[in-house]
Amino acid sequence: MAYYYPEPSHTFSEYLLVPGYTSEECVPDRVSLRTPLVKYRKGVEEPAISLNIPMTSAVMQSVSNDTLAIALAKEGGISFIFGSQTVEDQAAMVAKVKGYKAGFVTSASNLTPDHTLADVLALKAKNGFSTVAITEDGTAHGKLLGIVTSRDYRVSRMNPDDKISSFMTKREKLIVAPKDTTLKEANDIIWDHKLNSLPIVDENDHLMYFVFRKDYASHKANPLELLDKEKRYLVGVGINTRDYATRIPALLEAGADVLVIDSSEGYTCWQSKTIAWVREHYGDTVKIGAGNVVDKDGFRFLAEAGADFVKVGIGGGSICITRETKGIGRGQATALIEVAAARDEYFKETGIYVPICSDGGIVHDYHMTLALAMGADFLMLGRYFARFDESPTNKVMVNGAYMKEYWGEGSNRARNWQRYDLGGSTKLSFEEGVDSYVTYAGPLHDNVEASLYKVKSTMCNVGVINIPDLQRDAKLTLVSSVSIVEGGYHDVQLRNGPTSK
Ligand code: IMP
Repeated sequence: MAYYYPEPSHTFSEYLLVPGYTSEECVPDRVSLRTPLVKYRKGVEEPAISLNIPMTSAVMQSVSNDTLAIALAKEGGISFIFGSQTVEDQAAMVAKVKGYKAGFVTSASNLTPDHTLADVLALKAKNGFSTVAITEDGTAHGKLLGIVTSRDYRVSRMNPDDKISSFMTKREKLIVAPKDTTLKEANDIIWDHKLNSLPIVDENDHLMYFVFRKDYASHKANPLELLDKEKRYLVGVGINTRDYATRIPALLEAGADVLVIDSSEGYTCWQSKTIAWVREHYGDTVKIGAGNVVDKDGFRFLAEAGADFVKVGIGGGSICITRETKGIGRGQATALIEVAAARDEYFKETGIYVPICSDGGIVHDYHMTLALAMGADFLMLGRYFARFDESPTNKVMVNGAYMKEYWGEGSNRARNWQRYDLGGSTKLSFEEGVDSYVTYAGPLHDNVEASLYKVKSTMCNVGVINIPDLQRDAKLTLVSSVSIVEGGYHDVQLRNGPTSK
């Protein structure tokens, strides 16, 4: 006879945290959200990789490209660049993240001296940048001949046909710096000479980057940014259980810091084979997460297979229709609570702490705090990040409101054959995800800051200032459906709704 769970499975919205004692030290500014990404012998050593905020972005075409990866690493989290693309394209995205020198920007507006004032104005209207590099061949890395900023021309007194060569600030008048200049040195030069931008050139006087005065300030404003030893941003990648022997070496070569097997269901021989291949070729030097699972058996299987972290969640994602199409899944809260207990048990037995990631189904900011309290070490978010400027998808106007496109990896649009193929057929015969819009929400930085401030302030209500203490001390209660109604505004006529949830 089949096994029947005695209790129904629950989701985040059915739980609430009960406050604990708040002491004087419990203020949001003192809360640390640092958390391990990969397994380690807790109490004996530090994890090889930790996150400064407990956020990762989903392995999805509509979420995690190089732009989002850089923005999230600046905040202290990590992206997993989607694997539903060719090895070359994915490796190129990784290389872009690793090649990005914080504060050093590849020039986005470039012209030659033979272009005209009209060309400068058209370029400025198109991309909004007021600093134009003038190079021999009009490319971002051509020989530097001058720059044009709004100080160099006056539209009312000049002719649109005027050649750039007649009004640009010429190379001999420019202050530039050599390629090994550090950000700190670049900033000093900018201040000493009252510049807005400093071109960085190589030994042949070819332009490499600009350092802008305002970017240095933003770099300083990100004390939690996640950097490797060479001060490059950390980046993760999604892989699959089929082409790993070619994909993984290419991604590592491009600089990927951590891998995750991207699959809707991870309790499979394919995942253990993939992990075994990594161990055979790279030992423990390459870190690899696995998943997704929703119970203790799945967790134990992947932990024993050698996974560096385990992702939890099936069917809870906002674009996910796996439960509807296949009848597989489990309420995210119940899955997480069970897997967290299995993780703690595994730690007691082996001394190895395998971090778990709550993947999918985070709708409100308070769900983040609940997931962490239930034992998640970090979260994976798709819909959340898809709404921001930095996500890869189009911003479109729908019924008078700005939206961003967001589609599931199991939708026809993503055509991600591997993810839903358990090793047999190579054809996607039915969809497990939808193609949708989500409400546009602006820049990643502002949103992450606001969400995490809420998480921190709730942690203070619980009486804790770090994630391990939250996991240990939180008191959670299931709520009845009537009390869920009580939790929203009720028995009033709304004049203005809350600006955020
Ligand atoms: P969200 O944060 O609720 O939007 O969920 C994102 C998560 O949904 C991802 O990290 C995946 O685990 C999962 N997911 C992505 N695409 C699909 C799909 O097409 N079907 C089912 N689940 C998906």
